[in-house]
Amino acid sequence: MSKFWSASVKRLTPYVPGEQPKLANLVKLNTNENPYAPSPRALAALQAEIGAGLRLYPDPNSEHLRAVIADHFGFSADHVFVGNGSDEVLALVFQALLKHEKPVLFPDITYSFYPVYCGLYEVPHKTVPLTDAFEINVDDYAQPNGGIIFPNPNAPTGRLLALGEIERLLQANADSVVVLDEAYIDFGGDSAVPLVKKYPQLLVVQTFSKSRSLAGLRVGYALGHPDLIVALTRVKDSFNSYPLDRLAQAGAAAAMQDRDYFETTRRRVIATREKLVADLAALGFHTLPSGANFIFTRHATRDGAELTTALRDRSIIIRHFKTPARIAPYLRISIGTDEQSEILIAALREILG
Ligand SMILES: Cc1ncc(COP(=O)(O)O)c(C=O)c1O
Repeated sequence: MSKFWSASVKRLTPYVPGEQPKLANLVKLNTNENPYAPSPRALAALQAEIGAGLRLYPDPNSEHLRAVIADHFGFSADHVFVGNGSDEVLALVFQALLKHEKPVLFPDITYSFYPVYCGLYEVPHKTVPLTDAFEINVDDYAQPNGGIIFPNPNAPTGRLLALGEIERLLQANADSVVVLDEAYIDFGGDSAVPLVKKYPQLLVVQTFSKSRSLAGLRVGYALGHPDLIVALTRVKDSFNSYPLDRLAQAGAAAAMQDRDYFETTRRRVIATREKLVADLAALGFHTLPSGANFIFTRHATRDGAELTTALRDRSIIIRHFKTPARIAPYLRISIGTDEQSEILIAALREILG
């Protein structure tokens, strides 16, 4: 710890991202990336952006990209905020909308970046336990709060909360912001975006990293009432005027306009997931129902950490969380191609003897 550090930096507990190993021939199923390339239209838009224009700053307000996203969902652009990955959008959300005297509520098992943002921005928070079946019970959130946030589907469980339950939560919680982190919604759930028109306290956050195969470009966005968007923009313009570069704005807009490619690739991922779940069941795994591009699965008798290490020895990387104790038996496996699933199943068959 350096004597030059600010006191607040000494207190931080940073998030640890899944590793990005440089090894060749790895079956990489650890960070929920899409196994398919970005849309060819997105790649062409990126190529077209490479030129002398890069000497100029990008549009600080990402007007074109926001208009494309707004159009896609049937909103006006004043309902849309964009950021450098949904991680950045979420960070700004914690600072702009969730920092109050009362604690922000989120599940005990969820995206582990949320408590990190609370630490960074000194946001009081309280965790609400998932049920024994790893489900969110919206009645558990009927308590004083400075906001509510969770992913739907939740991470790392993959479990989806039905839209009717979300609406019940919104009806019971009108006085603080409800943030739905829909990073994985395109792989099996109904988005809450249409509810934005009805509930001014609802903010829905999505990303280009998963269903649009652009994790490397870093683009995320939020849809909500213009009042919420103004708060986010105020914080953004107090931090970085240009969070999205010219390539990111152009590539993301083109990706969103390529609806056919999006439909084809997300359906492929869903089909691969369903087959993988069935193949794992035949090997003695129990998998939680997943609405995401990953699954959360445990073997009837074998330890989660041990299986993760044994897979790693065979160049297959998945994610394992040691804590909290009740998820330690589980493996979180990102959905790859059918071929990657076959390699995984063959390796598990060998490991399990
Ligand atoms: C639940 C959840 N939200 C948000 C993110 C951040 O995604 P990105 O910053 O790539 O948009 C992730 C990434 O894995 C995630 O799992």
